[in-house]
Amino acid sequence: HTRWPGLIEAYRDRLPVDADTRVVTLLEGGTPLITAPHLSEITGCEVYLKVEGANPTGSFKDRGMTMAVSMAVTNGKKAVLCASTGNTSASAAAYATRAGITCAVLIPTGKIAMGKLAQAVMSGAKIIQVKGNFDDCLELARKATAEFSEIELVNSVNPARIEGQKTAAFEIVDVLGRAPDVHALPVGNAGNITAYWKGYSEYHADGVASSRPRMLGVQAAGAAPLVTGQPVKNPETVATAIRIGSPASWTQAVAAKDESGGVFRAATDEKLLEAYRLVAGREGVFVEPASAASVAGLLAAREEGWVSAGETVVCTVTGNGLKDPDTALAGMPEVQAIDVDPHAVARMLEVG
Ligand code: F0G
Repeated sequence: HTRWPGLIEAYRDRLPVDADTRVVTLLEGGTPLITAPHLSEITGCEVYLKVEGANPTGSFKDRGMTMAVSMAVTNGKKAVLCASTGNTSASAAAYATRAGITCAVLIPTGKIAMGKLAQAVMSGAKIIQVKGNFDDCLELARKATAEFSEIELVNSVNPARIEGQKTAAFEIVDVLGRAPDVHALPVGNAGNITAYWKGYSEYHADGVASSRPRMLGVQAAGAAPLVTGQPVKNPETVATAIRIGSPASWTQAVAAKDESGGVFRAATDEKLLEAYRLVAGREGVFVEPASAASVAGLLAAREEGWVSAGETVVCTVTGNGLKDPDTALAGMPEVQAIDVDPHAVARMLEVG
């Protein structure tokens, strides 16, 4: 067992880097692809979870950020800027401080999950709240970086982000020995579905995989522009990570869906939370609410018959559940205190 070198070293020959690239890494990538026995049982499929919460800052954003920040410092940028519903800012902040450059993050007013904010604070990012939603933040970030060339935009409209994130598809094929039949993932700004499709397509073109999966892109019902075909002015969902009304990579996401024979689906907050509890409660994988969209989408698509029994399905769970303790603890039953007494413990466990 050799040590995992980080995704740039692991896939150097498939990434736009060379000997002069200053690699900024926290050894991201190489995340677990684990079997999901309960989901497999209830769907009749062979279901795997790609656990992206195992990345250094707890989300898939680290895959893109190692590339984007490496490019930024190699090109002499002084600062990085992003709009974020939370995870991008946590990741950008960590990689920027590692690189020794400034990071500023534009976050929408209203809810961003507590853990994500804590991460950006601890990494020393300049946190700027904008009177608007994520889409307003991204527009502002684009304008600021277009005007001031010392600042690098590190949202997924930066092509380096997509390059880094495509490696998740490589890892899946490397582990399974082939592409899955279906790949389900949450979709917000639509960078990640673009990246996965690029990764699967490159492996397919080079003959590493003989097929590509059907992409199942899952949005929250209150923020489902790709499902309705119309931008959403005031997106709303408990899954704050994907509370996005106007995805930047709209065209690429539609191409991924069409070329793969895939679909976009919406899941209500109720279904998202159900899947959120199921993944933690039955599979032992604590993810954040937005991440459970992939699982909610699979369950609905299986019920519809769009996914068949016997198919191999990978669900990307994009972020760690620790990022959003408030949603996890909402409605938690009261914790009982007992005396310092082994019999009291036994009574609680209903044994003895
Ligand atoms: N899941 C999580 C946990 C996310 O944080 C995001 C996006 C997505 C899914 C959707 O990915 O945007 O590539 O379609 N979070 C961004 C952020 C918007 O600012 O952290 P996408």
